[in-house]
Amino acid sequence: MNARTTRTLAAALSLTAALAISGCSSDSDGSGDSANGKPKMTVSGGYMPEPVNDKMAGAFMVIKNDSKTADKLTGITSPLSDDLQIHETKDQKMQQVHSMDVPANGELELARGGNHVMFMGLKNTPKVGDKVTVELHFEKADPVKVELDVKERTYNAQNSNGH
Ligand code: CU
Repeated sequence: MNARTTRTLAAALSLTAALAISGCSSDSDGSGDSANGKPKMTVSGGYMPEPVNDKMAGAFMVIKNDSKTADKLTGITSPLSDDLQIHETKDQKMQQVHSMDVPANGELELARGGNHVMFMGLKNTPKVGDKVTVELHFEKADPVKVELDVKERTYNAQNSNGH
């Protein structure tokens, strides 16, 4: 009787230990990012330099992936335009791409002279101080709504804010 109780207790303890270990390993293989296993994106520093006219505008921001799952930015929508594109800059020329990697535990930087969002055709021309709402779409993560601050045309996030 006494020996049996001890065995049962030992079995229960080892089961608890096994559960704790598998809990850890599922966390490190990338499935433990959130309850549904999707990566979660944090967007900071979003801005649009004041457009010259209603033909086009660029937008810049930093998209941070705090999860262990790599993802891709696959599209952008906004009430300001029906045609938003993802552009990369190569040899000082920009070209449209259909997605951009957001690495696991990393970030995608959209900045002047490099990758950016391009509005093709605006429904109005925003002015400095206005806000422009965009929604970012990802292959895996849920869409993220971002408010872009409309800034002076010479504004450059890299030069004007330290973080
Ligand atoms: Cu462009």
